[in-house]
Amino acid sequence: MAYSQQETKKCFLISLVFLLCCSPWHYVEVDEEKGVELFYYFVESERNPEKDPLLIWLTGGPGCSSLLGLTIEIGPLLFDLPNYVNGLPSINYKPDSWTQVSSVIFVDSPVGTGFSYSRTTEGFQTSDTETARQLLHFLYKWLEEHPKFKSNPLYICGSSYSGMIVPVLTLEISIAKESHGAPFNLKGYVLGNPITDMNFDKNAKVPFVHGMALISDELYESTKKSCSGNYMTPSNIHCAKYLDTVTEDSLYQLSNFWANNGTVRDALGIHKGTIVDWHRCTHLPYTSNVQSAVPYHRTITSKGYPTLIYSGDHDAMAPYVGTQAWIRSLNFSVIDNWRPWYSSGQVAGYDLFGLWF
Ligand SMILES: *[C@@H]1O[C@H](CO)[C@@H](O)[C@H](O)[C@H]1NC(C)=O
Ligand SMILES: *[C@@H]1O[C@H](CO)[C@@H](O)[C@H](O)[C@H]1NC(C)=O
Repeated sequence: MAYSQQETKKCFLISLVFLLCCSPWHYVEVDEEKGVELFYYFVESERNPEKDPLLIWLTGGPGCSSLLGLTIEIGPLLFDLPNYVNGLPSINYKPDSWTQVSSVIFVDSPVGTGFSYSRTTEGFQTSDTETARQLLHFLYKWLEEHPKFKSNPLYICGSSYSGMIVPVLTLEISIAKESHGAPFNLKGYVLGNPITDMNFDKNAKVPFVHGMALISDELYESTKKSCSGNYMTPSNIHCAKYLDTVTEDSLYQLSNFWANNGTVRDALGIHKGTIVDWHRCTHLPYTSNVQSAVPYHRTITSKGYPTLIYSGDHDAMAPYVGTQAWIRSLNFSVIDNWRPWYSSGQVAGYDLFGLWF
């Protein structure tokens, strides 16, 4: 469904009213036999949709709705929390969005997430590899329905738990492209604070919370000593006890009010009787069958596809300490050393570039 940039901007500003008249939200059936329908929100680039990259954005969980991507993470909409009183929350336009320079498909995946559903019970049973397979199917069908985006540079993106899905999906897309010339202009993939491998992510949690000054030096030293630096599987009762001691908002609530309001659901074209109660994150009958995403990263990057891995420094589930450790394990040669990058004259973060031989 095409509409001009002018219309898109207006759509953002008048938000809900406009959802009614120019709603681009849709479903794609990704498993005909089991009746699996994936729901998505699509936002065209605010710059040049003909040329700008096309992104798939996946939220984490597994089971957290892509509405979070649209309204809390990288999308152009924002719930008006400061002025919220009651009833339906209003939505504002957020200029700091990735849609400034790219068109983004926010997909509710795996099935059971957000508004995505299955017509059969067995259709709700899914896994990492099945999710990637369904998303590949999604992409085929979506591009068939939107052929004008076939030539746009394609990037597969996500955060948190999608760290287990994005590398698998990216690899499948690259294989489909190489083996039978599938129409994907794949250019790379992007991950933020990705869950990747428990050996890295979980082990990094203890040094991370210590580095963040969330636990005392004494507790850190005792934990390290009792666990001999292995926090994955406590080898003794002292280690287990210390690990128990080392532990872990309202915008979320507004997304619940919004997505469960009948007027909103009519505007989105939600299939009646499918998802009775929308949840920000749904507990899915899900099998995590990818033990580690590291081998996938190795294979895709060695094929020459670039990746951007970025990390906020306040995530204890996918701590940047663990992310750095698994990136290091890939033995890239560093071509540009650790250095600050700036935004409006202030240090906004640090980056490092590597190259695979
Ligand atoms: C849903 O939103 C509409 C439009 O703002 C509003 O009139 C209605 O009261 C809301 N319904 C509920 C149950 O909050
Ligand atoms: C990285 O280097 C180490 C040490 O030389 C080696 O054991 C490991 O297999 C290498 N990893 C990769 C992905 O090549």
